[in-house]
Amino acid sequence: MQTLTLNNSIKMPLLGLGTYTLTGSAGQKAMCEAIEVGYRLFDSAQMYHNESELGAAINNAIKAGIKREEFFIQTKLLGANSEDSTKKSIEKSLQSLGLDYIDSLLIHEPYTQSKTMYKAMESFYKQGILKSIGISNFSTKAYKEFIQTCEIIPAINQCETHLLMQQKPLREAMKAKGTLLQSWSPFIAGKNMAGKNMGGGSILENPTLKSIASKYDKTPAQVVLRFLIKQGISVIPKTSKKTRMIENFNVFDFSLSAEDREILSALDTNKSSFSWTNY
Ligand SMILES: NC(=O)c1ccc[n+]([C@@H]2O[C@H](COP(=O)([O-])OP(=O)(O)OC[C@H]3O[C@@H](n4cnc5c(N)ncnc54)[C@H](OP(=O)(O)O)[C@@H]3O)[C@@H](O)[C@H]2O)c1
Repeated sequence: MQTLTLNNSIKMPLLGLGTYTLTGSAGQKAMCEAIEVGYRLFDSAQMYHNESELGAAINNAIKAGIKREEFFIQTKLLGANSEDSTKKSIEKSLQSLGLDYIDSLLIHEPYTQSKTMYKAMESFYKQGILKSIGISNFSTKAYKEFIQTCEIIPAINQCETHLLMQQKPLREAMKAKGTLLQSWSPFIAGKNMAGKNMGGGSILENPTLKSIASKYDKTPAQVVLRFLIKQGISVIPKTSKKTRMIENFNVFDFSLSAEDREILSALDTNKSSFSWTNY
């Protein structure tokens, strides 16, 4: 698996598994299957109620001989009101995961108390309990404002990123400080895009995307992931199906031509496909 080097010099796999909705025994089974396929980066969140399933899957794999250092475990904090409650919240995630360190901890969205929360994260980072810290769903404006008060610049900003929302201005703004864009919902969560001039169905039904995919004998999903990865964007597609885990993982054996990348780049509308975001 190819890796990216974060702005604090630690390495992270470029591609991982998103785990939203992977809960309970079925969720844990899917995580175990992803480990078998070769996934080492996993994205969880307190909000997903699956940190304990992820921790169990990882700890089983460690017992079976995979080294802890091979994994890159990421989770995200819900809002907290004080530094103290944030510290307790981080401890709770460590306990749920059954791990003594977390590779990446993000603030799930720009909460009112994000700066206070981040202070607690910085403190755990300095102790080595968090190997990297970052944010999620911070717009260009929110990011620029947030970094004014950070002692440790966020390593990652995880945001909605796909063909229709390529986050070009945000990427430009984060370049100077080396904050990495991680894409959530690279397939727009399978949403039906009917009415968006996309040919109906999900983004994976988009005719332009389909015709490019057929040229390379790849699936539309593989082309989307390859397109994002090529630009240094980390991707965490979610699937509960092993066949799709394999499909989404196998995107390192082909390259898109500059011409095809331009065609895909032109699909960008710089508009969110989700009503709750605030980019
Ligand atoms: N920070 C945030 O606020 C935030 C928000 C949203 C998501 N996230 C993170 O990002 C991850 C990914 O986003 P997401 O789960 O919203 O959506 P996504 O990865 O864009 O899409 C998932 C959907 O696509 C389907 N799918 C997966 N692989 C496929 C393939 N090869 N071909 C066709 N369909 C495929 C899945 O169905 P099956 O499962 O049936 O295969 C599921 O319906 C989440 O799981 C979560 O970890 C973070």
